[in-house]
Amino acid sequence: MFSSLNALAPDPILGLIALANKDHNANKVDLGVGVYKNESGATPIMAAVKTAERNCAEKELTKAYIGPAGPAEFNSGIRDLIFGAQHPALQAERVRTVLTPGGCGALRVGAEFLKRCSENATVWVSDPTWANHLPLLGNAGLKLAEYPYYEAGSAGIKFDEMMSALANVGRGDIVLLHGCCHNPCGADLSEAQWRELTALAAKNGFLPFIDLAYQGFGRGLDEDAYGIRYMAEHLPELLVASSCSKNFGLYRERVGSLSVVGDKAAQSDASLTHINNVVRGNYSMPPSHGGAIVGEILADQALRQNWEAELAAMRDRINQLRVLLVDKLSAQNVDRDFSFIAKQHGMFSFLGLSVAQVDQLREQFSIYMVGSSRVNIAGISQTNIDYLAQSIAAVLVS
Ligand code: LMR
Repeated sequence: MFSSLNALAPDPILGLIALANKDHNANKVDLGVGVYKNESGATPIMAAVKTAERNCAEKELTKAYIGPAGPAEFNSGIRDLIFGAQHPALQAERVRTVLTPGGCGALRVGAEFLKRCSENATVWVSDPTWANHLPLLGNAGLKLAEYPYYEAGSAGIKFDEMMSALANVGRGDIVLLHGCCHNPCGADLSEAQWRELTALAAKNGFLPFIDLAYQGFGRGLDEDAYGIRYMAEHLPELLVASSCSKNFGLYRERVGSLSVVGDKAAQSDASLTHINNVVRGNYSMPPSHGGAIVGEILADQALRQNWEAELAAMRDRINQLRVLLVDKLSAQNVDRDFSFIAKQHGMFSFLGLSVAQVDQLREQFSIYMVGSSRVNIAGISQTNIDYLAQSIAAVLVS
């Protein structure tokens, strides 16, 4: 049965990990996979996570099953973090949240749930979007279509074109949105644009499905949730996938959440039974370890303060590196304006290089990035930034 299979090409993002690990050039700069790195190039465990993990180990009394929705402490903590504890949708009991194995688990469970709600649904995704969105949604049987989003020339959003395309999307279809820190382009909707889009969703009746993988990495924990909170207040229905990989640094623990916002509490309760049923038919229930850590941090005032301070330091470092990279590239007198990098948010931006230039950076300079020229800004440091700017300048003139 297996003999008919041909090996697949490596994943465009994860394949870069193996490639970069094999390269022993002392000048190597790895800007590939989206993992936060500190000034030394390490991805340390956050101190709040270490403490919470110890607390959890002491408190845990059993390894018995936790059920498809996961622990209540995590679910309420992450729900309040995403929506804001005083949000009217929470007060009206319209939101139900479950723990999922990472943001990917949330997207996949969400996709299967949507397939049950709207058998022939199309999910509209931004052009471009995170490469893994396509299999996560498409493998659940949903049809996929693209709406215009990023304009390479201005390195901004084609908002008018996006709105014109979505004007033709109606009830029964879904629009996938990036809550903040757009992956891969770093260009986010403004608050005014979120409001306009919400009005269109209200008029047309399409369902927004928001992927919030970087809350706290852009402008701040509350600011990054603006679009979600606005939509949850002004629309009858919404679906939200979130990830704790980046903001809690819990990449390998696989911690995320799926929240359904229904028109009425009873509708949300019914939706939750279906979500739990999708979970049961996939992996039965989520692993508890990572969710317990996040639940502990969010429920403990001191731990939460420490976590927020650590997160703010990561966000500030990324934003400072964005400004520094623009300065360093401008000092190279390159014939190109890179100032957009300092205006974008989160881990990623496109450098706007061709595939050949990306290949040249890798082969000649040991600088690793995704083929689209998406760079992980957190992989830059004071030590490698001059080498990086000089190398980019070199490929731009060659
Ligand atoms: C990325 O985009 O690099 C991260 O979200 C990691 C991944 O799984 O692709």
